[in-house]
Amino acid sequence: MPNIWIATFNNHKIKELKSMVPKEMTDIMLFSAKDLSFYSAPQEDGTSFLENAWIKAKAMKPLTPPTDWLIAEDSGIEVEALDGLPGIHSARYAGNSSSDMMNNDKLLKMLNFKSNGSRKARYFCQIVALGPKGQSFEASGECTGSIANGFSGSGGFGYDPIFIPNGFECSMAEISLKEKNKISHRKKAFTKFLSQLDS
Ligand code: IMP
Repeated sequence: MPNIWIATFNNHKIKELKSMVPKEMTDIMLFSAKDLSFYSAPQEDGTSFLENAWIKAKAMKPLTPPTDWLIAEDSGIEVEALDGLPGIHSARYAGNSSSDMMNNDKLLKMLNFKSNGSRKARYFCQIVALGPKGQSFEASGECTGSIANGFSGSGGFGYDPIFIPNGFECSMAEISLKEKNKISHRKKAFTKFLSQLDS
């Protein structure tokens, strides 16, 4: 199995992706942008998750060993009553150096302005994978749910404390990583990529 590079500095994404490699593929070695001292993240100025994933993939691929695969993922949360926002702006919804807490806070406030608005939401993950022989592969995944009235739980990251996955009565931050991996947008997209690698 090949080495796979992940075009991200996000520790949470790295941890989640590492936990998703199935037992029969444990000879896959995962590396990330953190293992490259000479890489800085490009400006994500695309207009869609797909465009941003391509921007990250193209920026990092030339810096990784040519024999390895590289995957870039762009993800975020889309809220129905906010016409799909924060969407591609999820990481910086409350401003350029905003924390997860500030982003969650802003989302709850924006929803409060829409008193009768739908709290339906979904996480979306888009992966672009570039292979050693010039292959390229796109895969996406979603996880549907709704926005809670407040924060709960301390697991996960990002919007997990205010996101209630469909079929659950607690937030994504209150379930284990093992449970999250059964429903996660990232897991669905990553699994599609792994099955492509396997075939
Ligand atoms: P990106 O690094 O530009 O792809 O931004 C991803 C952002 O979307 C994160 O910083 C989070 O705010 C949000 N996000 C994506 N996936 C998740 C998740 O699994 N849980 C919670 N928030 C997520």
